[in-house]
Amino acid sequence: MTGVTAAQSLVVRPAARLRGELTLPGDKSISHRALMLAALAAGQSRIEGAGDGADVRSTAAICAALGADVRRTVDDATGNASYVVASPGVDGLRQSAADLDCGNSGTSLRLFAGILSGLPFRSVLDGDDSLRRRPVARIIEPLRSMGAALHARSNDSLPPVTVIGRSPLHAVDVSTTVPSAQVKSAILLAALRADGRTTVRESVATRDHTERMLRARGVSVETVADGPGGGAAISLEGGSTVLAVSERVPGDVSAAAFWLVAGAIHPDAELTLRGVGVNPTRRAVIDILASMGADLTEVVERPDGPAVDGGEPTADITVRSSELRAIDLDPRDIAAAIDEIPVLCLAAALADGTTRIRGAGELRHKESDRIAGIAAGLVALGARIDVDGDDLAIHGRAGLRGAATDSLDDHRLAMTFAIAGLVASGETVVGRPGSAAISYPAFFADLERVRA
Ligand code: S3P
Repeated sequence: MTGVTAAQSLVVRPAARLRGELTLPGDKSISHRALMLAALAAGQSRIEGAGDGADVRSTAAICAALGADVRRTVDDATGNASYVVASPGVDGLRQSAADLDCGNSGTSLRLFAGILSGLPFRSVLDGDDSLRRRPVARIIEPLRSMGAALHARSNDSLPPVTVIGRSPLHAVDVSTTVPSAQVKSAILLAALRADGRTTVRESVATRDHTERMLRARGVSVETVADGPGGGAAISLEGGSTVLAVSERVPGDVSAAAFWLVAGAIHPDAELTLRGVGVNPTRRAVIDILASMGADLTEVVERPDGPAVDGGEPTADITVRSSELRAIDLDPRDIAAAIDEIPVLCLAAALADGTTRIRGAGELRHKESDRIAGIAAGLVALGARIDVDGDDLAIHGRAGLRGAATDSLDDHRLAMTFAIAGLVASGETVVGRPGSAAISYPAFFADLERVRA
């Protein structure tokens, strides 16, 4: 089977055993930011090991449309991309004649909205049908308060988003209304073009790649713990220059999550994942699985991480067959493991006891309504799940049996149902499997490899 499938559905049969070592796609969040920051930096930036999923390629194409010279080569062995980006720097970026196509990528849309707010021309950010259903008021409001003009469909709530930037923007002190690294990052990227010191306050901690990567490029970003929910106040000075650097992108922990769950739920498994990014604000899925009893061995490669790599620690992780126990997850856990909740629901369906997940409403605003989508697919496979508003109760020890599932064209659902198929009896049909290529083009090839 090839890495990307255009088929309408794909059959996954149970695996007798799972063995092997995997190199993951480069972290999607870091790959987006590396490209965007390369476009803001005058001179030549190099990015190694970037994810080559469709989302990151959307960001690369937008950087080029704004005037950066973007060269991409793909490493056949890993499927990851290397980029050389030569940019005139932020003041040399220019208006794109065409709309900027973010495809399926919410990160591209939200973060570019922040960047474009500080560029004195008109841009339109658009995307596919799924992206056109994703909420944007959360970025429009703070970016308007900084002086940019933004407009969107449906009373400024849905893409496409028109941005008329200005320079300088006003420095602001704002609190985010939802726990979202995308919103925080949009404001911080706009703040680079503001007339003073901007502070973003978040009540619940979210991934901090933007902060780390700005620091690694010479921008002074201050983070101060703020409030009881684990949140922080993050500040930077407008007018700061972003320097061009070389960076290696770590393996995507959100992609690793599929194999961590596969190894833990399969009765005869040992999988080793190389070079996984274990940033403290991203690694919650590892710690949640460990709390559920997963047999994980983590060998930390670079506890501090050199600055040129954006200060991102990585580790090799080995997972073996495990006896999992149920767990309770609260809204802080949801923010910390936002992209891994679907595959954690699969782990919960096979664990001992009832897992309760509270306050997962943000999952309804991802590439699909992930609460509805994961519940429908796992229930079809025999799981017992009660959904009450934004809360889920997943009753464990389900005996999964193959059935038809639908990814809803959502990459994380497609990969979760495929992993379920490795342990379900009979044939599991994954509907619309090609969406996996949004973040992990080699996923189905890797699935074949580890079962061989
Ligand atoms: C991302 C942040 C998360 C996550 C998305 C990538 C990022 O979204 O779901 O896949 O790169 O900042 P929110 O921060 O909006 O929850």
